[in-house]
Amino acid sequence: MRNIDQNTITPAFLARLTNCGNPRLQQIMTSLATHLHTFAREVALTEDEWMQGIEFLTATGQMCDAKRQEFILLSDTLGLSMLVVAQNNAKPAGATEATVFGPFHVTDAPLVEQGADLSGGAPGTPLFVDARVVSADGSPIADAEVDVWQADDDGLYDVQRPELGDTRRARGVLRSDAQGRVCFRSIAPTAYPVPTDGPVGRMLLATGRHPWRPAHVHFLIKAAGFETLTTHIFREGDEYLDSDVVFGVRSSLIGDFVRHERGIAPDGTSMSGPFFTLAQTFVLARAPD
Ligand code: BEZ
Ligand code: FE
Repeated sequence: MRNIDQNTITPAFLARLTNCGNPRLQQIMTSLATHLHTFAREVALTEDEWMQGIEFLTATGQMCDAKRQEFILLSDTLGLSMLVVAQNNAKPAGATEATVFGPFHVTDAPLVEQGADLSGGAPGTPLFVDARVVSADGSPIADAEVDVWQADDDGLYDVQRPELGDTRRARGVLRSDAQGRVCFRSIAPTAYPVPTDGPVGRMLLATGRHPWRPAHVHFLIKAAGFETLTTHIFREGDEYLDSDVVFGVRSSLIGDFVRHERGIAPDGTSMSGPFFTLAQTFVLARAPD
């Protein structure tokens, strides 16, 4: 086909896919190209703007390394990550909802005992968590793997602090007991900005958006016979609950972090200063047979 213009280019491109051989890839490429072409026509994209887009994506790729995934951050801040989570994680009524995974999980977090202090010296107000993992009928799920991670009081994850090297803190993996319980000490989460020193930060600034995520603790819960749950518990009252930069907040995931000025903590420690407690139940959906 010759003499292609801005309208005939779309059917011309789709005709090139007829030998694809992979029906799903063909479906995805058909839709991607159709939407991309429609977008360019709709906004009457100029050559300068096309080049700016190419430079932006190039810079996004150049920002990526083993510890920094700027493309995932771009997907998160464009709302694509949460869209994909939402359309792939429809849970039965009553099951705990899923939200974005985020880039700060590590696979070598320490396995810790019940009651352990996960903070590892990270700065923050002490938090005592009493969590239960149950099935939809309320029966406890024993021996679930509960992977927890969070930012410190400065809004940084351990992996964002080069001075820590490979030291892990404010994270850990626990196993639920026969009652489905998991108890640990950590620190109260605070709101933090996603990294803004790259192209995604420039995009947020240029479009008048703030970079903040409301305070939360991440949980990844796995149990035999149940669907794996990737979620957070957010802190009630946080000013960013309705404007999370990655669109991850669900009302059902807002936890009741109770502040105590002093007193005896759930693990029996006498606390002379403020601390928080959080009781949280996670309901797992049964895996399909
Ligand atoms: C996080 O919650 O750790 C996170 C999620 C998406 C982008 C950046 C951080
Ligand atoms: Fe986070």
